[in-house]
Amino acid sequence: MEIKKVGVVGCGLMGHGIAQVSAQAGYDVVVAEASQEKLDSGIGKITKQLGRAVEKGKMEQDAADEILGRIQGTLDLEDFADCDLVVEAVTEDLDLKLEIWKKLDEVVKDEAYFATNTSSLPVINMAAATNRTEQFLGLHFFNPVQVMPLLEVIQSVTTGTDAIDVGLGFGEKLGKKTVHTKDKAGFIVNRLLVPYLLDGIRGLEEGIGSIDEIDAAMKAGAGHPMGPLTLADFVGLDTLMSISNVMYDEFRERRFAAPPTLRKMVAAGFYGKKSGRGFYDYSGDKPVSVNPGL
Ligand code: 3HC
Repeated sequence: MEIKKVGVVGCGLMGHGIAQVSAQAGYDVVVAEASQEKLDSGIGKITKQLGRAVEKGKMEQDAADEILGRIQGTLDLEDFADCDLVVEAVTEDLDLKLEIWKKLDEVVKDEAYFATNTSSLPVINMAAATNRTEQFLGLHFFNPVQVMPLLEVIQSVTTGTDAIDVGLGFGEKLGKKTVHTKDKAGFIVNRLLVPYLLDGIRGLEEGIGSIDEIDAAMKAGAGHPMGPLTLADFVGLDTLMSISNVMYDEFRERRFAAPPTLRKMVAAGFYGKKSGRGFYDYSGDKPVSVNPGL
């Protein structure tokens, strides 16, 4: 089946990016949020990104208008009825995701494909809540979606080859580098990246360097665009903790366990860049490191 209309559930950090790149690739997009305020904020981010591209001379105003015109915001999942592919990008809360998938399974046409953007939860747990386990796959995007070239296409124990082909084709049309992987917690990237970020936090706890020194060292010494503590803030400390909990549950290895400092920062509401404070304070012109009081 040719994919023409894409539904995106969630217009937050990942969802707005997925909606934007899908519309840029020519798909009609419907994107849902739980409240008008969140929807306006997500669509506002897309409008801003497109506006910047026009300012930089990378896109004509007409093209930006057409892309925005292809995106319909909604608060009602009934508007997903005629979607060919639905990508879910809500917070990493399995109960919430299951509730959404059950509703979507009722309202979306039978032949449509379903994909979760989960960063670590088992794809099969969500697929099993629907009546289309063969058409259910994982499509894992990376933040910022507009910039990061990778899309992991995840095959659960029930995903059919048709669904994998749809995922790979969708990724290619978005201009992404696609990698076909298996439904194991963390897939490829988070399996390797998350223990590294957690080790950055453990290194801070053990005093190998300050926040600034650890970040500067990995940028200058390993050529990373961001140091591990900046990247942890960028991913979101709450998200990082929930991924590490899922991975620890699955593998029972210390390297996947959330260090105490991460747990305490999340308990304090320090979620990183999105909340204004994590290992850095984002309230000024430039982020300033804040010692989490180890
Ligand atoms: N949204 C959209 N576009 C953005 C953006 C954002 N949040 N941030 C930056 N950009 C764009 C800029 O507009 C600019 O575009 P241009 O080249 O067309 O002008 C381009 O990206 C480069 O931006 P900057 O010059 O401002 O900044 P940098 O060169 O420092 O790049 C970065 C910013 C791309 C975020 C870079 O620091 C980077 O690659 N960091 C690592 C990001 C990373 O590792 N992401 C993966 C996280 S893990 C994940 O998502 C998985 C999940 O499951 C946890």
